Amino acid sequence: MVRMLDVCKVYENGTPALAGINLRIDEGEFVFLVGSSASGKSTIVKILTSEIKMTSGRAIVNGRNLNRLKPSEVPKLRRTLGVVFQDFRLIEKKTVYENVAFAMRAVGAAPRIIKKRVPYVLKLVGLENKQKSFPYELSGGEQQRVAVARAIVNNPSMIIADEPTGNLDPKMSLDIMVLLDKINSLGTTVLVVTHERELVDSFSKRVVAIDNGRIISDRTGGYYQNEII
Ligand SMILES: Nc1ncnc2c1ncn2[C@@H]1O[C@H](COP(=O)(O)OP(=O)(O)OP(=O)(O)O)[C@@H](O)[C@H]1O
Ligand SMILES: [Mg+2]
Repeated sequence: MVRMLDVCKVYENGTPALAGINLRIDEGEFVFLVGSSASGKSTIVKILTSEIKMTSGRAIVNGRNLNRLKPSEVPKLRRTLGVVFQDFRLIEKKTVYENVAFAMRAVGAAPRIIKKRVPYVLKLVGLENKQKSFPYELSGGEQQRVAVARAIVNNPSMIIADEPTGNLDPKMSLDIMVLLDKINSLGTTVLVVTHERELVDSFSKRVVAIDNGRIISDRTGGYYQNEII
């Protein structure tokens, strides 16, 4: 879940990025965050994952108050989030299985649990036959599925994906969205940042549109209309 109350961000060099964001995302929701380049989408994502600090305002993510979060508490917050990036960020020298298992070892999961959970998650994303492959042996869409598997393997309550289909062709992009939709139907809250209008329109989801650091529309079912070209 997310609560943002009048969140503003001015970057250290003086660039204004967010000018009073009020956003509520409840447990179990699926939300598309759309808007033109430089509108502030990634800035919102980075505040929610606590990669950067807001300049003013208040925010709560998965029950944790970001205004009071100590640096030592950031890893705990991140454990409740699964983050997926545009450029996948896989470890090139590790197999598909190892890339996903690594995320579990990082949080101290027991080997017995890892052995059970990794094949289950790889099956969920449709990669049960690629466990021993290396990232360079996979298509872009398959690599992104590994990244999604890695994001969900520790059972986060929310997935945040910043342009997860930005490097994929339309068919692969649709496959990734369908996968995120499936993960959402299993109970995980999903926030997806995307530019891709057709993709958003092929789902009937809540769409939050941002322009110039402000939310300009928030509606369910299809893309924002003519606010942004
Ligand atoms: N580290 C930074 N320092 C200074 N300004 C920044 C920084 N990161 C982003 N900005 C500026 O903040 C504004 C919002 O950027 P942001 O990355 O949130 O946009 P975006 O909506 O994600 O764009 P895109 O669709 O191109 O990814 C832009 O004007 C950008 O130049
Ligand atoms: Mg961005």
